Amino acid sequence: MAKKLTVVFRQAKIPASGNIVVLVGTDGALGNIGKEVDARHDGLLSKSIKAADFKGSAGSTMTVWTPGKTRVNRCLLAGVGKPEDGAEQSWLDLGGVVIAALSSGDAKAATILLEDPEGKDISGDQAALVAMGMTLRAYKFDQYMTGDKAKKARAKSLPKIEIATANTAKAKRRYTAHAAVAEGVNLARDLVNEPANILGPVEFANRAKALSKLGVDVQILNEKDLSKLKMNSLLSVSRGSVKPARLAVMRWNGAKTKSTAPVAFVGKGVVFDTGGISLKPGAGMGDMKGDMGGAAAVTGLMHALAARKARVNAVGVIGLVENMPDGDATRPGDIIKSMSGQTIEVLNTDAEGRLVLADALWYTQKKFKPKITIDLATLTGAILVALGQDHAGLFSNDDELSTQLAAAGEVTGEKVWRMPLGKTYDKMIDSKFADMKNIGGRWAGSITAAQFLKRYVNESPWAHLDIAGTAMNSPDTKINRSWGSGFGVRLLDRLVADNYEK
Ligand code: BES
Ligand code: MN
Ligand code: ZN
Repeated sequence: MAKKLTVVFRQAKIPASGNIVVLVGTDGALGNIGKEVDARHDGLLSKSIKAADFKGSAGSTMTVWTPGKTRVNRCLLAGVGKPEDGAEQSWLDLGGVVIAALSSGDAKAATILLEDPEGKDISGDQAALVAMGMTLRAYKFDQYMTGDKAKKARAKSLPKIEIATANTAKAKRRYTAHAAVAEGVNLARDLVNEPANILGPVEFANRAKALSKLGVDVQILNEKDLSKLKMNSLLSVSRGSVKPARLAVMRWNGAKTKSTAPVAFVGKGVVFDTGGISLKPGAGMGDMKGDMGGAAAVTGLMHALAARKARVNAVGVIGLVENMPDGDATRPGDIIKSMSGQTIEVLNTDAEGRLVLADALWYTQKKFKPKITIDLATLTGAILVALGQDHAGLFSNDDELSTQLAAAGEVTGEKVWRMPLGKTYDKMIDSKFADMKNIGGRWAGSITAAQFLKRYVNESPWAHLDIAGTAMNSPDTKINRSWGSGFGVRLLDRLVADNYEK
């Protein structure tokens, strides 16, 4: 569970005591504030930069002890290189690097003197991003540790942070929104990190329900409701599990009029994926507790939108099931009838995500007639083969929506890469016995999975994000050390902010 990091913004004045953080640019350049600090300490900063050959490249840090005339005796130099214009990433990363360095140096409090060492104006926006980067990096999931292990993990409390900036009012304003998004990311991380014995479909639905305290209208459909709606495709996945399925519907109405068509987000929420009767091999199966990364991102996003009171109508629909083998589980060869009326021959019970999404997508489009629909799913191992962990796969029937998503990916660093769709791929899921089968051939596994989903969306703009490579088991970054990354929350929040808010 994320510890609360306190950040306050204050005027850009050098404090008289405590720990301070000074930014350093390319080739060890100090900005005006840095120079002032240096002057107050008899040139210790500039001398140390020279002595250590500190280059000031982004991500690097160095501690300079500054005992002497003032009561500031520790100064953390943080390299920012040449911060890129418009890119959020460099400021988020700076926040991440600084909080990590301060925590490992046991600082109880620190003031960050924010400036561009090259003299360019820094607005409150960057200050807010630095604070957000800190919140994201400070996230920890350590509540299941006990004894010495727990003591070690929790020994360090987070330092109290002050960010000194020329534009405190704007920084504060922007940070309320950024903090809301960071909370959403950390919520998504929590959900992905939780094991399936703790977070089953019912417990997940309860977490979604908790968003009602932010003004989100949350409705939970139980198995009886789902049967009535004829969601047999979704229900076929949870047949083998003793944990009953749920569908959570979250609605945030932030637009001027309630009747404005919403933007819709649909998430795969397989709380654990054993593969079912088409059982997965044992090695690495534990990772499948993260097979609800899509649903987690949708929930985190709804939290973010509501908490920052986004001026948009948004719907989040998540299909929550557990995929287990059992005497009553769905068998390979079974034919089921989805809510849409289309029949599916289930040839592999491990291709279950698309079965969940088929009904969730159909329901969402029918019920809400959204402007756009985006689904997120840890859908295929094949997307890892194609793109690794650096991009999510993007599949879409709409060029404009794809362009918007790619742009949001560039600013947030949650990158997407568009993959093709087409008739030839679609043919690969035709079935001998039913309208379609749930697997394609040996090749193009991520594409045939997307083609399957496409049969459950109408002609309105839709995008599918395959996040199997990006939602979990994430490589370390400057703003993420969590197994569950929360991928998708910042991406889609940005998509909404840039394109769908008035
Ligand atoms: N949940 C998996 C996909 C996955 C794999 C997510 C690795 C994260 C990491 C999905 O349900 C699955 O099992 N897909 C199969 C599809 C196949 C049976 C057509 C796969 O990718 O092997
Ligand atoms: Mn599977
Ligand atoms: Zn799965």
